[in-house]
Parts: sequence; C-alpha cells; structure tokens
Amino acid sequence: MNTLQFDPSRAALHLSDQERTEALRANALLHDGSGAGHDFLGWVHLPSSLDEAALAAIEAEAARLRTLADTILCIGIGGSYLGARAVQEALDDPFAALHPGQTHHLLFAGQNLSEEYTARLFEAVRERSIAAIVISKSGTTTEPAIAFRLIRAEMERRYGREEAARRIVAVTDRSRGALKSLADREGYRTFVIPDDVGGRYSVLTPVGLLPLAAAGVDIRALVEGAREMERATAPEASFEENPAARYAAVRNALYRKGYKIEILASYEPQLHHLTEWWKQLYGESEGKQGRGIFPAGATFTTDLHSMGQYIQEGERMLFETVVSVADTHGHVTIAPDPEDADGLNFLAGKRLSEINRTAELGVALAHTDGGVPNLRIELPRLDARNVGRLIYFFEKACGISGYLLGVNPFDQPGVEAYKKNMFALLGKPGYEEEAERLRKRL
Ligand code: PA5
Repeated sequence: MNTLQFDPSRAALHLSDQERTEALRANALLHDGSGAGHDFLGWVHLPSSLDEAALAAIEAEAARLRTLADTILCIGIGGSYLGARAVQEALDDPFAALHPGQTHHLLFAGQNLSEEYTARLFEAVRERSIAAIVISKSGTTTEPAIAFRLIRAEMERRYGREEAARRIVAVTDRSRGALKSLADREGYRTFVIPDDVGGRYSVLTPVGLLPLAAAGVDIRALVEGAREMERATAPEASFEENPAARYAAVRNALYRKGYKIEILASYEPQLHHLTEWWKQLYGESEGKQGRGIFPAGATFTTDLHSMGQYIQEGERMLFETVVSVADTHGHVTIAPDPEDADGLNFLAGKRLSEINRTAELGVALAHTDGGVPNLRIELPRLDARNVGRLIYFFEKACGISGYLLGVNPFDQPGVEAYKKNMFALLGKPGYEEEAERLRKRL
C-alpha cells in the first residue's frame, strides 16, 4: 500500500446507486462552483496552483526567521492555528525539546485567553531569541490580537521597534483589517491569505506553510501529497476511485440511520492535533441549521481506558473513523524475561507496533459487535507527503459531505454569537445596548 486507503467494510452498509451518484454530483459542485458558498472554493485547486515561486518565497522567509531567532512564536486561533499545529505535531519528534541538537522551536500563542499559559510562555522565552508569525485572516480576532499586542511590546522592549519589525511576519488579508494596517505602518513582511480560502481550509496557504517551514517541515512533500489527493478526487474519478466521495457518502448514510456522532480515533498520539483540526473542519462546516454529525476525537489505546465503556455500551448513536498508520518510526521489541513475573512472555519477540495493530483489530471487532460502525483510513506512514494526502482528503470529503447534508460548508454564522456577548461584557465601544441587555440577565 502506497497511498491513503479508505475502508468502510466494517460499517455494514450498502450504498445505493443514488447515494453514490449524489456524492459525485456534490464533488462536481465543488469543481464547477455552482454550490452554496462558491466564493470560498479556492482550496479545491490550491495544491496544484502553488507554484515554485510561492513555495520558494515561503521557504526563504522561514529560513530568514530561523537565522534571526531560535524560537518562533506562531500567533493565531481556529483555522489560523490548528492546521500548523496539527502537521507540526504529526511530523515532529515529540521529545525533540530534549535533544541537544534541537536549536529551533515553534511555540503557539493567541489560541486561548489564558493568563497562566501566556505568563508561562513569556517565562519560557525570556532567555531565548524570538521572532513572531502573526496570522489572522480578518485581522481583528480578539485572542491573537491580544497575544500579538503583548508579544510585540516584549519584542520592541528587547530589540527596539525597527529590529522587532524585522522579526515579525504577518499573514493576513490582502488589504483589510487591523493587522494589515499595523503591518503596513510598521513595515512588517506580509503573506496574503487568499480571499476565497476560509480559515479551516487554509493550512496549505502561508497560514500553515510558513510556520511549518519555519519548524523545519518539508512543505514541498506536504503539498505534493495534497496534489496527489487533488488528482485522485477530481470530478473525472469514479466513485470507487475517489476516497473522499466514498467517505462523505458513507458518513452521511450513517447519519441518516441515526449515527449522530463520529469519533475520529487514532492509535498514534502524534495525531492528537490532527484530530483537533478535523473537529474544527467538520464541526464548523456541518454544524448548522439544526443538522450535522458531531465530531469527537479519541486517541487509542489511551482513551479506551476512559471512553471505552461508553463507546462499547453507551447510547447507540456513534460511529468511529480510525486513522491507522501502517509503518511507524523506530523498532521496539518485547524481550523475553526468564522470570516472567509480569506474565508478558506471550508477547516476547513481538514489536510494539504489532501489539498496537492487534489492539486496533480487537477494538474494531469489539466496537462493531457493540453496534459502532467502523470506518478506516490507512496511511502508509506518518511523513509529510502522507499528511498532505490526509489533509486534502479530509477537506474534499468535508466539502462533499456538507453539500450532501444540504448546508453551506463554507460559512460559520454561529461563531459570532459568543463574540458579541464577550465584546459587550468587556465594554467594547458600539456594544452598549447589548451590554445593558446582558447585564440584566446576569
Ligand atoms: O474557520 C474559521 O473561520 C475560524 O476558525 C477562524 O479561522 C478563526 O476564528 C480565526 O480567524 P482569523 O483568521 O480571522 O483571526
């Protein structure tokens, strides 16, 4: 197996010809631009449209930042955060910080309002040389704007305004927003987030590619993997050849049968933030108009010791999609122990990956027996090319799935509600009447 494979055989589901045709029709809508939200389809051809000049410019900027600083602070939230975090975690050595050769670090800020997190981040970088990549499409999102104000002040205090400006790169809209105005005023280098790519589909723009290149990720291989999946899911591909159409059709068929929650599960802890990215992608794209599969995540076998009981025997509205990695890094074998005090000699000679894979098989059988349909996505290994394939696969399937569900997968009207309340309660000018109404309810 050389590429991503989708296997729904444990879902015990027969798709009708109509369900297959509808999935292909939804895919065609993404390509001909005649569906809902068609102003935000820039991601569909993004991998193939990224040319040498675009990739080289990102790599050059990342290299420049690495010569200026050993620690790069990446500031953003939601779609301006999760993609870079997910890919970095999937590809990085989780113990890299302990390696003596590790000179550069990518740290994240602006993805929360926690004073504890922010204070500890400042403490951690006190003795380090820093640069910042600040990412916001709107340029006005509160969390990253606050983090950037704090980090900018620290950088200007340390380096002076001019040198701080050399160390800051803004990734934002071409012309609008407070961040763009600030970047123009201070002379920051900037990268543009295309108008037609929404936040949660933006990991293959400079939003994801610049911080990833700064973290040392091979962004060319990442993009190449995404290009392969772009080709594999083109409108010319048949239903059987198109894994994204198949995944979208199967999950919608399950939804119609009453399976309202999808658990994205993996046996590799490095995929934790990939699951977080997937949750945003599917949650924001589908959860509207009183509809949508609720996206949940789990890391097995860890979470089998916490969520396993519910998954096996709780309310029957769950299905599970397992991201399985065929070939993992390293070689860890269980040695025989002459005393066998722990009773584990039956595992002697086996690799840990074999035990993990056997756990995966046992769990799939147990969960399907317990009424949890099981879908499987297999990757040959966790490298940049395969993660690129996985990203585009999920994006394409999400667009198709949203259309099958009958929603616009490219808007997010619901995320404004909390912001309105927060601004009103914090006293933002223009929100006085709303503040009055809310205070009466407190
Ligand atoms: O997907 C989305 O649109 C959101 O999650 C945004 O990415 C998030 O709110 C950050 O927005 P911005 O990039 O404008 O700061």
